Amino acid sequence: MEIITDIPALRARLQRESAIAFVPTMGNLHEGHLSLVRLAQKKADCVVASIFVNRLQFAPSEDFDQYPRTLADDCKLLQNQGVNVVFAPDEKGIYPEPQEFLLEPPPLANTLEGEFRPGFFRGVMTVVLKLFNIVQPQVTVFGKKDYQQLQLVRAMVRQLNLPLEIIAGETARASDGLALSSRNRYLGSEERAEAVRLHRVLSEIKHAVGAGNRNFLQLCKNAHENLASHGWEVDYIALQQRDTLAPAGVDDPDLVVLAAARLGKTRLIDNLEVSAGA
Ligand code: PAF
Repeated sequence: MEIITDIPALRARLQRESAIAFVPTMGNLHEGHLSLVRLAQKKADCVVASIFVNRLQFAPSEDFDQYPRTLADDCKLLQNQGVNVVFAPDEKGIYPEPQEFLLEPPPLANTLEGEFRPGFFRGVMTVVLKLFNIVQPQVTVFGKKDYQQLQLVRAMVRQLNLPLEIIAGETARASDGLALSSRNRYLGSEERAEAVRLHRVLSEIKHAVGAGNRNFLQLCKNAHENLASHGWEVDYIALQQRDTLAPAGVDDPDLVVLAAARLGKTRLIDNLEVSAGA
């Protein structure tokens, strides 16, 4: 496995590859990322993973400085997984000058996560487009854990005619159901035990809707109250159409329930795809 930090060296290395599958990450890797790598390996002989904590997608009040940076451990995991190339640029490599061209995402980016993290998706989409331009992959893999990010990347690729296939990876979970996330390491031991409630309330909604319940607002309200009564500060719990992430209508068959909530200082997100039952 080669670890490359600058763009010209990466381009020179990738010139000889005819098919590249790309997994962008911010590092602090866990099984969720490795499962995305395994999907990438099914698609191309050369798998490139990037590790870059993108300042542009963090608000000044957020955890950019504290975000765990574990490059050596990450590289070991990627090497064991058989990744061919790690692209690990520094900030000057990606942003050698102030990034004044920013990708303006569609209104979807101002809902759900975007409502609570203004500018987040502008930062994500800008760096993702830059990384696509740098790596020039044929295939890229994104996790469903960041469902809204996945749908926005799909829209960007469609609307900007990028020659790229997007593969979506399922969310990897701990044995109790908690979605794996780099931010789980901020949880204290009591918080970690409580954190599984987020997945539990989403599962309850999934099963209720699957069993024919169409009172979406009430289901989300119940889940919100359940979390709040156990010390969570809930940003949103919403049942949306899967593709557009518009609010779910009673006749929509393919839905997703998404949530973001804070437990102590840690903000967690999760979602589950839901099929509306009769
Ligand atoms: O999902 C992430 O880890 C980040 O948002 C991404 C796609 C690597 C862009 O910084």
